[in-house]
Amino acid sequence: MAKILEVLARRVWDSRGRPTVEAEVAVKGARGRAIAPAGASTGSGEAKSIDVGQAVHLVNSEIRSAFLGKTLEQETLDQLLLSLDGTPDKSRLGGNAIVAVSLACAHAAAAAAKEPLWRFLAGKRPVSMPVPQIQIFGGGAHAHGSMDVQDFMIICTGAGSFSESLEWTAEVYRAAGARLAKRNALHGVADEGGYWPAFKSNEEALAELTGAISDAGFEPGADIAIALDIAATQLWRDGRYHLALENRTLSTDQLHTMLLRWIERYPIVSIEDPFAEHDAEAMQSFTRTAGAKIQVVGDDFFVTDAARVRDAEGACNAVLLKPNQVGTLTETLACWRAAQKAGYGAIVSARSGETEDVSIVHLAVGWGVPQLKVGSFSRSERMAKWNEGLRIEESLGANKLPYPARKLFKARG
Ligand code: PGA
Ligand code: ZN
Repeated sequence: MAKILEVLARRVWDSRGRPTVEAEVAVKGARGRAIAPAGASTGSGEAKSIDVGQAVHLVNSEIRSAFLGKTLEQETLDQLLLSLDGTPDKSRLGGNAIVAVSLACAHAAAAAAKEPLWRFLAGKRPVSMPVPQIQIFGGGAHAHGSMDVQDFMIICTGAGSFSESLEWTAEVYRAAGARLAKRNALHGVADEGGYWPAFKSNEEALAELTGAISDAGFEPGADIAIALDIAATQLWRDGRYHLALENRTLSTDQLHTMLLRWIERYPIVSIEDPFAEHDAEAMQSFTRTAGAKIQVVGDDFFVTDAARVRDAEGACNAVLLKPNQVGTLTETLACWRAAQKAGYGAIVSARSGETEDVSIVHLAVGWGVPQLKVGSFSRSERMAKWNEGLRIEESLGANKLPYPARKLFKARG
């Protein structure tokens, strides 16, 4: 296997105009490159990012020295990163330095094997394209609290391919924008490219989104369903959930009841972080009640940590996989393996601060993760990823497993 000849990092800029870390790893005849993304609604259990200047310095000094001459083998190198760091939260080398280097190693290994990353990760296993969750309205920490709920997304549950999902999404995105413009309720776009609306309540967004699906000529629930990310950790303060837009607060039980009512009224098939990250009991109770009907996703709740998934005891039934939330690729894969073992679903996810880096699309395809969430249907840091998915789907030709949308959500909605 190839030996590492060079490791370097530089400061680049993300979709919010903030600095971030880009890393490169070179072997003879091949190199890999990756950029760390950044969250805004982060879980407290996430790998900690450090100052970008310091992270770049550490890659160019300590990590470089430790890596030069080593065999390009992902698990060993990820382990080396963890032992060099030596902290439980990756706060010495920084989650941002670690994820950029870890991903750059994967890209270098794929390049050395002269394969696209997804193929390198999949080996000889057949693959399918993941089903996208695509944001239409953005709120929460990504739009200065324009709405309390962070993501109002769609899943094209009736689509027959990845490319068809995007075609349908384009129609809904356009229809939703037209509805808002007509009502003078359009305030541009939020951090992930979804519309930044002026609504009077969170439920109004659900009604408008259902209307936009119909306006675009689709049947809500049958063709296209709704997925929410409540990002409820952001709403939790002094023992209650604060809905600032509606000028009221809810107890855990009241939030539970409200979400069940939404599921009854609207074609919702997936809810992420319905309760705050510390509240396993509320997650378990909600999953017991709603989990047979909808997907209950843990994001801040699991922070891509395999151990938390193993200890979930019925909290949630799906896991969001964000490489930078845990640090290395090996740990991200371990979390996916833990999800599979627990019978949980999984979604590879981008962050609200993104770049042109499209690695996560390759991870979803290569690892066989059935869903992918990268934000909305505008802004090039988002479109770069959808477009990469189109290229991968095209390159698969007929040589792929069936697109899983209908099967994943058949019994739901
Ligand atoms: P973040 O948001 O990247 O700001 O954490 C994404 C999400 O909550 O899924
Ligand atoms: Zn989330």
